[in-house]
Amino acid sequence: MAFIRTVFILAGLAALRANAAFNGLAITPQMGWNTWNAFSCDIDERLILETAQTIVELGFKDLGYHYVVIDDCWSAGRNSTGHLQPDPNKFPNGMDFLSDKLHSMGLGMGMYSDAGSLTCARFEGSLGHEQIDAQTFASWGVDYLKYDNCFNEGQSGTPLITYNRYKTMATALNATGRPILYSICNWGEDYPWKWAQTVGNSWRMSGDIFDTFDKPDARCPCTGEDAFECQLPGWHCSMMNILNKVALFPEKGVPGAWNDMDMLEVGNGGMTDDEYVVHFSMWAALKSPLIMGNDLRKVNAQTLSILSNPAVLAVSQDPLSSPAFQRWRYYVGDKDEYGQGEIQMWSGDLSGGDMLVVLLNAGDKNRNMNATLADIFWDHGPGGTATQVKQAWDVYDLWANRVDNATANAIIAAAKANTTAPDNALPFGYNATANGGYEAGLTQNVPALFGKKVGSVRPNGKVTAEVRRHSVAMLRLRATKVEL
Ligand SMILES: *[C@@H]1O[C@H](CO)[C@@H](O)[C@H](O)[C@H]1NC(C)=O
Ligand SMILES: *[C@@H]1O[C@H](CO)[C@@H](O)[C@H](O)[C@H]1NC(C)=O
Ligand SMILES: *[C@@H]1O[C@H](CO)[C@@H](O)[C@H](O)[C@H]1NC(C)=O
Ligand SMILES: *[C@@H]1O[C@H](CO)[C@@H](O)[C@H](O)[C@H]1NC(C)=O
Ligand SMILES: *[C@@H]1O[C@H](CO)[C@@H](O)[C@H](O)[C@H]1NC(C)=O
Ligand SMILES: *[C@@H]1O[C@H](CO)[C@@H](O)[C@H](O)[C@H]1NC(C)=O
Repeated sequence: MAFIRTVFILAGLAALRANAAFNGLAITPQMGWNTWNAFSCDIDERLILETAQTIVELGFKDLGYHYVVIDDCWSAGRNSTGHLQPDPNKFPNGMDFLSDKLHSMGLGMGMYSDAGSLTCARFEGSLGHEQIDAQTFASWGVDYLKYDNCFNEGQSGTPLITYNRYKTMATALNATGRPILYSICNWGEDYPWKWAQTVGNSWRMSGDIFDTFDKPDARCPCTGEDAFECQLPGWHCSMMNILNKVALFPEKGVPGAWNDMDMLEVGNGGMTDDEYVVHFSMWAALKSPLIMGNDLRKVNAQTLSILSNPAVLAVSQDPLSSPAFQRWRYYVGDKDEYGQGEIQMWSGDLSGGDMLVVLLNAGDKNRNMNATLADIFWDHGPGGTATQVKQAWDVYDLWANRVDNATANAIIAAAKANTTAPDNALPFGYNATANGGYEAGLTQNVPALFGKKVGSVRPNGKVTAEVRRHSVAMLRLRATKVEL
C-alpha cells in the first residue's frame, strides 16, 4: 500500500491522495441507501426498518452498503430547550431507538439537516444551531449527516463564505467526539471541490439528479462545459449532464473526501437497464459515493444484479482511489431524441498495476468501439511513450458475470421469506464485511472482483468492444503474465 501510494505521488497526480481523511471516515467512497429519490417526504420508522432488514437479507450489507440515511422531512421542529425533535407520528420510538436497531444489524445511521434557516422541505434548519444539533445527532447515535443548502440566507457567493458556513457544522460534529461522516450537499456552489476536502467527506458537485439518461431540462441550466462557474445548479439534471460536469475535475476526489455525483436512481424506472448500467459504472469509476435511492423492498432481478455487481464495486472501493479520467469525447452523427450523440472513453489506474477502461456509447445506435493503449495510458507517458503501452494486457469484462435473472430472483425470494437462499451462502461471490472492504479480495485475486476474461491486447494495440446504444463496456486490463 505504502509503495503504491508513493509511486502515485511520484507520478505527480495528487499529493493530497496520500492523506487520510480529516476525521478518518470514507477512506473509500461511502456506500448505503437514502430515502429521498424513491420516497421524498413519505417516510417513517417502518420504512427505515424494513429497508434495513432488506439490505441485510439481500446481501447488500456484506457488499459494503453500510449507511441507511433518512433524508428531509423527519423533523417536528425544536422543543422549548431548542433541541430538534423527530416527528412523533413518523418516528414514534425516537431516533435513538432507530439507530440502536440499525447498529444491531451492523448498519450505520444517517440523518439530514440543512446549512440554512429551513431545510429544502421547509423543516427547521441548522444554521446558527450547529452545536446543539450536532450534539443531538451524536446523542441519537447518528453516524452520517447529509447537510443541504436551501434557505441559506444569502451566505453564499464566495468560496470563503460557503466554506465557513459548512465548516461550522464540521467543527460542531468533531466536538461531539463521535465520528460522523459529513456529506456536504451544496450542489457545487462556490466550487466545493476546491475547499471541501478538509471539512467534509464528500460534496455534491452539481444540481440534483433526475431519473433520466440525457434529457436536457431548463431547471438544470448548466450543461457541463460551464460546470465550474455554474450560477444555478438547479435540479432535474440528467445522468449524462452530471457525468459531463464531473469530467472537469475527477482528481479533486481523494480518500476521505469525494466528488458526490448524487444518489443513485438505479431501479426507479426512468432509464433502461443499459442506461442504469452506465449510471452505476460511471459513479463507481468516478469514485462517487454509492448511495442507493430505490425501494429495496420491491427490488427486481435486474436492479439487484446491477447494484450487487462485486466487480464494479471493487472499482469504486479500490484502495488506490484513483478516479477514471475522460480521455476523449466525440460527437457522432446518431443523436437520440434528447442527447448530444456522443461517445466517450475513460480510463483510470487500479491497484496492482491494473487499468480501468470504460467505453461509453451515448449515441443512438449500437457500435464497435475501440481505444488505443496510448490513449488509455496517456498519463503514464503521453503519445504512446508509457512503458505500459509496450506490453500485452488481458481484458476482463466487469459486467459479464452479473448475476442472471434466475439467481437474482432466488435471492429476492429468499429475502422475502427471511431465509438464506439455497446455494447462496455468499450470493455475489464476495463478502466485504468478512474482509473489511475490498482490498483483501483484490490482493487475493478473488474471482468475483475481476469479472470475466474476454480477450487480450497486444503491445501498442487497441482495446475493442461491441457497445450497445446507451451502454458501456467496463473493462479491467491486467498485465499478461509471460509463461517462463
Ligand atoms: C428537548 O429535547 C431534548 C433532546 O431530545 C431533551 O433532552 C430535552 O429534555 C427536551 N426539552 C424539553 C423541555 O422537553
Ligand atoms: C476531530 O478532529 C481531529 C483533528 O483533525 C481528528 O484527529 C479527530 O479524529 C476528529 N474527531 C472526530 C470525532 O471526528
Ligand atoms: C476504432 O474506432 C474508430 C472510430 O469509431 C473507427 O473509425 C475505427 O475504424 C476503429 N478501429 C478499429 C480497429 O476497430
Ligand atoms: C431479465 O429480466 C428482464 C425483465 O423481465 C428481461 O427484460 C431481461 O431480458 C432478462 N434478462 C435475461 C438475461 O434473461
Ligand atoms: C428475519 O430473521 C432474523 C433472524 O432469524 C430475525 O432477527 C428478524 O427479526 C427476521 N425479520 C423479519 C422481518 O421477520
Ligand atoms: C459475511 O461475513 C460476515 C462476517 O464474517 C458474516 O457474519 C456473514 O454471515 C457473511 N455473509 C455471508 C452472506 O456469508
